[in-house]
Amino acid sequence: HGTSKVNNKGHLEIGGVDTIELANQYGTPLYIYDIALFRERARDFQKTFQNLGVQAQVAYASKAFSSVAMFQLVKEVGLSLDVVSGGELYTALVADFPVERIHFHGNNKSEEELEMAVKNKIGCVVVDNFLELSMLNEICEKHDYMMPVLLRVTPGINAHTHDYILTGQEDSKFGFDLQSGQAHEAMKIAFSASNLDLLGIHCHIGSQIFETTGFKLAAGKLFETLKDWKETEGFEARVVNLGGGFGIRYTKEDTPLPASVYVEEIIADVKAFVTDHALNMPEIWIEPGRSLVGDAGTTIYSVGSKKEIPNIRHYLAVDGGMTDNIRPALYQAKYEAVLANRVNDVADDKVSIAGKCCESGDMLIWDLPLPKANHKDYLAVFCTGAYGYAMANNYNRITRPAVVFVEDGEAQLVIRRESFEDLVRLDVPYQSKSKVTK
Ligand code: LLP
Repeated sequence: HGTSKVNNKGHLEIGGVDTIELANQYGTPLYIYDIALFRERARDFQKTFQNLGVQAQVAYASKAFSSVAMFQLVKEVGLSLDVVSGGELYTALVADFPVERIHFHGNNKSEEELEMAVKNKIGCVVVDNFLELSMLNEICEKHDYMMPVLLRVTPGINAHTHDYILTGQEDSKFGFDLQSGQAHEAMKIAFSASNLDLLGIHCHIGSQIFETTGFKLAAGKLFETLKDWKETEGFEARVVNLGGGFGIRYTKEDTPLPASVYVEEIIADVKAFVTDHALNMPEIWIEPGRSLVGDAGTTIYSVGSKKEIPNIRHYLAVDGGMTDNIRPALYQAKYEAVLANRVNDVADDKVSIAGKCCESGDMLIWDLPLPKANHKDYLAVFCTGAYGYAMANNYNRITRPAVVFVEDGEAQLVIRRESFEDLVRLDVPYQSKSKVTK
């Protein structure tokens, strides 16, 4: 997929660059991003809205993968940016991201985070709860600033996905509840708040969703709500944000639709509703993460030890694992992989790919067809671009990998490999209070 191909050495090549050369130069594990593919994914969303003649903002959900270089790229392709913490916002500011295109999410934003948003005059705060509503208005008063806000609501939709990444159902920690009237109450407060400019409403129903039904149901609920708010309170929304969650293909079992289909189907419903009920067509915002960067990322590992248990299983260990990709351990997520240095060899073995952490659950892939592999081979795991590096951690004091962007035959390092010195950077030596001397 993307710009990936096999070169005449039988090596996996991405963006016109030999991944084995990259592995030699930058070490492994190594995250490689196919920038042309990211650009294509971004353009697909933007073009679809343009073709439909709908005013829109496509915001990149930066939780999927964030870094200064990534944010610079997002800025260049003209996407907006969804951040969910002071840290993501800080990174965006360092990347000189246009503040008016930053949207701030989160179910427990701190006073400091809200203050940071206000001081930097960001484009929109997606308000999640009553505490935030009053805190934000107060901070805005103090700084004499009018903050554009959306209200996040939980539409009560059970999208078909893993429990941990489901967010739009009624029993959720996110947003104002629609059913109980909470959302209506929040709207009245926001609408009359001195320093909040209520733009509209937001929902996000979950992640890695393949069907359009959930999105359409959610959009339906939002527009019903807006119709009610117009009738009862005279409030008309200028913006409706439908969140992210569009699924991608990790393995053959996954059957996502093209981005354009999700958008077209949702917008068709929205247009019909708006016309039927004489509402103004609001600007539509979406915030995909995975469907923008997921398949642009590939991880290259070095193959190390193996353990062959006769008639049971062949284990093949790589030099990373749950520290650079926790998704298999956390969500039983499935991936496909090849030997990056011998892509054309016949897959005559079946191996389970183990990580190097001291934990049995540290497995990346179960029962993967692969050529007989050895120490010094390289494994390429596909579609690791979203929630891979972003969720990387230092369990077992394993250092985080490096990240390179490849495009048009050139590679550039965008995140350096973590060093042992980095690992102890925040450590403060112990001052012993013991009276016992040896
Ligand atoms: N907007 C909101 C409010 C969200 O909570 C999320 C994801 C997104 C947008 C982007 O969703 P996407 O288009 O990437 O599906 N760590 C999990 C996924 C967690 C998603 C959390 N929210 C995983 O690795 O599958």
